[in-house]
Formats: sequence, C-alpha cells, structure tokens
Amino acid sequence: MAKVLVLYYSSYGHIESMAGAMAEGVRAAGATVDIKRVPETAPEEVAKSAHFKLDQSAPIAKVEELADYDAIIIGAPTRFGRMPSQMAAFLDQAGGLWMRGALNGKVGGAFTSTATQHGGQEATLFSIIANLLHFGMTIVGLPYSYQGQMSLDEIVGGSPYGATTIAGGSGQRQPSEIDLGGARHQGELVGKTTIKLFG
Ligand SMILES: Cc1cc2nc3c(=O)[nH]c(=O)nc-3n(C[C@H](O)[C@H](O)[C@H](O)COP(=O)(O)O)c2cc1C
Repeated sequence: MAKVLVLYYSSYGHIESMAGAMAEGVRAAGATVDIKRVPETAPEEVAKSAHFKLDQSAPIAKVEELADYDAIIIGAPTRFGRMPSQMAAFLDQAGGLWMRGALNGKVGGAFTSTATQHGGQEATLFSIIANLLHFGMTIVGLPYSYQGQMSLDEIVGGSPYGATTIAGGSGQRQPSEIDLGGARHQGELVGKTTIKLFG
C-alpha cells in the first residue's frame, strides 16, 4: 500500500494543524500516512521565551526513514522568506540518501505558513520544492481544482505551489476552513498520485 509521510516543523502550531489536514486528505485517497516532525534546534530557553508550542505529539523523524516512504510532503513556516533552519538542518543530513538515489522518483509536496499575506509564501514553498527536486522527486502542488484559493471574500491561504495559511503578526489567526481544505485537497492529490505510481 502506498506510504506517505507528512514531515513538518512548527513553532506555534499553525503548520501542525495544516499537517493534520494534509494527512486527512492522504487517507481519503486510500493511502497510508504518518505524521512526523523534525527536531527543534533552538536552545530550550529561546524556545520557551519565544513561547514555542512544545507539546506537539507527532514523533520525531529520523533522516534514514525518508527512504521508507513513497511520498514525502514537507510543511514548514516562513523564516525571512525561506524554510526554517530546523527543517533545512534535517534535510541537510540527507546527503547519503541523495548519494545513493534513495529518494529518486518519489512523490513530493510542500506547504507553508506566513505571518503576513505577502510575507514570502511562494519563496518558502520554492525553497522546499527546490530541495525535493534535488532529491529527484516528482512535485504535486495545489492546482486550481481547489477553488477555495480563488476567494476574495475573506483572507485565504493557498497557492498553486502548495497549501498555505496566514498566521498573523502575533500568530492570532488559526488556519481557516478554506486553508485546511487546501491542505486536505493537496494531501488527496498526493495520495492519488502515489497510488497511481506505487499501487
Ligand atoms: C525568525 C522569524 C522569521 C520570520 N519571518 C517571516 C517572514 O519572512 N514573513 C512572514 O510573513 N512571517 C515570518 N515569520 C512568522 C512565521 O512565519 C509565523 O510565526 C509562522 O508562519 C507560524 O507558523 P507555526 O505556528 O507553524 O510556527 C517569521 C517568524 C520568525 C520567528
């Protein structure tokens, strides 16, 4: 059965919520899914003083485990318009997997969160997608089959490059139903594509 990993980093829980919705979509497609997170690398006193959400229940992933999945969907919030160092540090340890082509041909996807609407969502998604392309992966985004991203009636996340949400300057906005729907839709597309390729 097609195996999908939703791998995420989240300081304040927005991407954690999006990861849950992404996994729901994968399951709806009929694939199996694990949700794992990458290790926190900020010193504990920094994480505590910045009020990071430290009670996340997803298990911590090991780099070698990436090879066990048919698809890997990576979620991480924006840091200065690119992926955070916590996620980059994890992926930077995958050189051995890259060397032996262990991730070639797998399915990949990206999702993100910013504080502001134009705070770097697409640049962050591409920083993740570029990494996945180097791994040899085939990318599934969030096409306009997800019409929620077209709305002008309210603030919405979502882009053809991947599901997104907008957290607000102090993290006060939680992912809306439309944002979560985008994650579910992308998860379902990844699941369906993975099943087509890997059964
Ligand atoms: C060091 C740092 C840099 C950030 N850079 C940006 C940025 O460039 N653009 C932006 O819109 N938000 C930026 N943010 C806000 C985060 O993207 C926001 O807290 C995050 O999307 C919330 O997701 P999370 O709850 O999963 O951590 C930054 C936050 C931190 C701590």
